[in-house]
Amino acid sequence: MDRCLKYFLFALGVLAVAIILVFCFAFGYLRHVKITVDDASLTRMELVNTPTTALAYNLSLKLVIRNPNWAIAIKHDKPLDAAYSFDGQQFDRIHVADKGDKQRARKTVVYRLDASSGGRSVSLGNAGEAEFRKQNATGVFEVEVKLTGKFKYTARYHKCKLEATCPLKLQFTPPGSPAVVFQKVECKLAKPENKYC
Ligand SMILES: *[C@@H]1O[C@H](CO)[C@@H](O)[C@H](O)[C@H]1NC(C)=O
Ligand SMILES: *[C@@H]1O[C@H](CO)[C@@H](O)[C@H](O)[C@H]1NC(C)=O
Repeated sequence: MDRCLKYFLFALGVLAVAIILVFCFAFGYLRHVKITVDDASLTRMELVNTPTTALAYNLSLKLVIRNPNWAIAIKHDKPLDAAYSFDGQQFDRIHVADKGDKQRARKTVVYRLDASSGGRSVSLGNAGEAEFRKQNATGVFEVEVKLTGKFKYTARYHKCKLEATCPLKLQFTPPGSPAVVFQKVECKLAKPENKYC
């Protein structure tokens, strides 16, 4: 009987340690999200003068966010936004996810973002207009997409800012032109603001 109790307590101890290890593994170590732009198409990109310099564009993106954590889910604590810039000048901002939206552990979410305008004012200046003509001549436009938001993770006290930049090289393909293959782009995450993020 005595021996039986000893074995039982030993087994209980082993089980407790195992449970603690699983918990530490599941919640103790935070892995960062992986963000990629898997597809993009630019069917319109023009400089218009109406009466100030403006950009007319149709740009669609397939933005993919992967949560690699085994048990930690993400809750957006602020809206997730995507800002689009050409030559360092922001020309559009798109809402990606709302405050309160959730992304479960091990889940991948695909966002299709459509940005278009018949002419949105943008302060390109002389330098930006020159850069536009230069890129226009090659047919490939460089657009930077910058994501900003704030995450709250399961079982974590700290909220973490998210900032990621995706440098895109977009082949201009007006309607009716043959499709081009878009090379997937990995977005670069900014350094976390503290050790908890
Ligand atoms: C751009 O988008 C608008 C509406 O979103 C559409 O009417 C127009 O045909 C599109 N133009 C091109 C060149 O894709
Ligand atoms: C861009 O290139 C097209 C031809 O590919 C041309 O028609 C258009 O005028 C150019 N736009 C500018 C602003 O240079």
